[in-house]
Amino acid sequence: MSPETEKPSAESLISEARRVLSHAHAPYSRFPVGAALLAESGRVYLAVNVENASYGLSVCAERSAVFAAVAAGERRFTALAVATDTDHPTPPCGACRQVLREFVADCAVHLAGRTGPIETRRLAELLPHAFTPEPDGRRQPFGA
Ligand code: THU
Repeated sequence: MSPETEKPSAESLISEARRVLSHAHAPYSRFPVGAALLAESGRVYLAVNVENASYGLSVCAERSAVFAAVAAGERRFTALAVATDTDHPTPPCGACRQVLREFVADCAVHLAGRTGPIETRRLAELLPHAFTPEPDGRRQPFGA
């Protein structure tokens, strides 16, 4: 285990995401997802997808991780790891990319299937030309 001052590696974040994968509630899609989100504080927030009999109420693992972190007082993120029980790594859906983009312009996104190498992408690469909260002319504060 690395010292507390050291940032968790892609491997350790993926192993945390894999550890919670079995907690996913995905009886409808049978597509469990585990997420581990590293905040700038050094804390890691874990989440899984939680589905519902009313399908549209299902929530992705990545978004749950962001919401849990924000509820704990975090606002800045360094890396997201996503683990799936698939042959190949699965990148986060567009909605989850946008939710993460609310807080950080860019961060590492580590992806892994059940075995095989970890694929690392960047949020800025996965969500180019984003609709952003920055006051840059694309979105002004309400009433401005
Ligand atoms: N899902 C996630 O948890 N994250 C994604 O980025 C894509 C999809 C979940 C939602 C649903 O429970 C299942 O995977 C199938 O779409």
